[in-house]
Amino acid sequence: MERKEVIEKTILFVKEKLAGDSSGHDWWHIFRVWNMAKKISENENGDLFVIEMAALLHDVADWKFYENEDEGLQVIINFLADLELDKTNIDRIIDIVRNVSFKGAGVNDKMVSLEGKIVQDADRLDAIGAIGVARTFAFGGKYGNEMYHPEKKAKLHESFEDYKNDKGSTINHFYEKLLLLKERMHTKTAKHIAEERHCYMEMFLEQFYGEWENIR
Ligand code: ADP
Ligand code: NI
Repeated sequence: MERKEVIEKTILFVKEKLAGDSSGHDWWHIFRVWNMAKKISENENGDLFVIEMAALLHDVADWKFYENEDEGLQVIINFLADLELDKTNIDRIIDIVRNVSFKGAGVNDKMVSLEGKIVQDADRLDAIGAIGVARTFAFGGKYGNEMYHPEKKAKLHESFEDYKNDKGSTINHFYEKLLLLKERMHTKTAKHIAEERHCYMEMFLEQFYGEWENIR
């Protein structure tokens, strides 16, 4: 099968899997990450086919959708095997999907391949800036989290279990993840794009607290 056809079939598969999602993982998130990953790779190189496939599939096996991560990964492996991708490419794509997620402030990233670093950067760029703010509040609403609680302190989680099970406020999520992402970008291209988006989130928080205190 032509690579173009594989990509088209993958788009259809992803659209079907993520249809109706309201937690910030809808098709348009995937679409933005896919485009951003392509843009980053223009400067940083990497195998474009693996980058595109991993970007398209990166959220299909998310721990928020499946009880068990391996179950989600197996769905992707089966899909790729049906498309007759060779084992090397399947392994490279699965390795990226497995390691893409943020797992807590104190948990180190394990992404080793250049392709994976590009996809992770693209995914993280979509978690910050104006779109990041919007997605974060959408996520908080969907999971019934408080928007803000002045007495609740943010936590820098040391384990994925802690991070996963903590129902903190949405404003705390900025300190627990979003404001940390700029420093955790891998590529120079993404670091550069992250600057402005990071700055925008700081402005947003300043305005938010100003309004909360009735001084703005
Ligand atoms: P990753 O792409 O690293 O796997 P997630 O899937 O956890 O990230 O997050 C996707 C989106 O949901 C991001 O915009 C993220 O900030 C937001 N999100 C994740 N956890 C929370 C939370 N506890 N509160 C608010 N937003 C969250
Ligand atoms: Ni994502």
